[in-house]
Amino acid sequence: MDFTFTEEQLMIRDAARDFAQRELITDVIERDTKAIYPAKHVQRMAELGFLGMLVDPKYDGGGMDTVSYVLAIEEISKIDSSCSVIMSVNNSLVCYGLMEFGTEEQKEKYLKPLARGEKIGAFLLSEPNAGSDATSQQTTALDMGDYYLVNGTKNWITNGNSAGTYLLIAQTHPEKMHKGINCLIVDRNAPGISVGPHEDKMGMRSSDTHSVMFTDVKVPKENRIGTDGFGFTFAMKTLEGGRIGIAAQALGIASGAFERALQYSKERKTFGTYISNHQAIAFKLADMAVKIENARNLCLKAAWLKDQGQPYGYASSLAKYYAAEIAMEVTTQAVQIHGGYGYVKEYHVERLMRDAKLTQIYEGTSEIQQMIISREILK
Ligand code: CAA
Repeated sequence: MDFTFTEEQLMIRDAARDFAQRELITDVIERDTKAIYPAKHVQRMAELGFLGMLVDPKYDGGGMDTVSYVLAIEEISKIDSSCSVIMSVNNSLVCYGLMEFGTEEQKEKYLKPLARGEKIGAFLLSEPNAGSDATSQQTTALDMGDYYLVNGTKNWITNGNSAGTYLLIAQTHPEKMHKGINCLIVDRNAPGISVGPHEDKMGMRSSDTHSVMFTDVKVPKENRIGTDGFGFTFAMKTLEGGRIGIAAQALGIASGAFERALQYSKERKTFGTYISNHQAIAFKLADMAVKIENARNLCLKAAWLKDQGQPYGYASSLAKYYAAEIAMEVTTQAVQIHGGYGYVKEYHVERLMRDAKLTQIYEGTSEIQQMIISREILK
């Protein structure tokens, strides 16, 4: 593995950093406080090519590699992980799933607008009783000949209201358990779909998270991805890539908090000297730096394996698990280093700490990643 970035990778990282530090920063506290959806920033991410980064240019994407994607998500997440989760879900779960497993017709019709950022995508897997236990899908997609008839409720859907295109996981043949599950491409405006209220979340408050209800929704047969019963495998394969995005997000949250704590420690004086001169603070900073460097290496290794066409599911779980855990630890220490100032919004680190928590929960909790990792090492 080569640790040198290409010029193109560095350009993408710098463009993401510039966008985050100049544009996202301006209203990030207000959007978090009032839970305002970042519509104008999503538009800018589309213009900058961040919403279809991994998609082949043939389908109007940026054709960038996964290493570049990790670098961009880290930079955006240092400032605003509500924007990076919108970007991550659109890229890794929706665009990637369509590009890898969709038909030519599906790519023309659905992937291209998503890659251009004209539409946003959402991935509808979780249900009130099927979160970690994703095989227990209760939403049904009954085969009616020409179409599927969908009924059920999906929970905790990122981009649930803003999305124009849903990738819906639903059960077609309950007797076949997970082998009866399908993934359907569903138009958000299809009759019978209703969206619940905005979830009032602890962190990532500016991204829109909703329940989505389906009542007798008709989905054309040609909107199924893959063969009949491929839906669960589709979801698992897609999540392997999604976890690289969330790992990079957790890394960005941690490194954003670290940069702020480092800066603050060189400005704030106590007992007649800068607090960075106190070993109690300097050693905390050293521990934070080691954890961030390890998380970055795990993220880049998973991305590199994916770019090389090698299996990356285990590596993505390692990265997601570790980066999420250290994001929580590092942001907590960043608040501690700031003392009372860390506990108020103006200094950003309390928000980063709240945001970090979600990385331990979505796209597979830390316990799910431990399960995947332990199964792999024990098999
Ligand atoms: N690739 C391909 N196939 C896979 C796979 C993978 N990575 N992982 C599992 N499978 C297959 C298995 O081979 C098995 O198939 P066979 O029966 O044909 O052998 C089948 O799927 C079932 O697998 P398991 O027996 O391992 O199932 P399980 O129930 O014991 O565990 C799990 C599965 C890994 C725990 C899975 O349910 C899981 O990942 N749960 C977490 C779900 C999740 O991440 N949800 C996030 C929601 S999306 C989100 O958060 C997006 C957002 O909005 C931000």
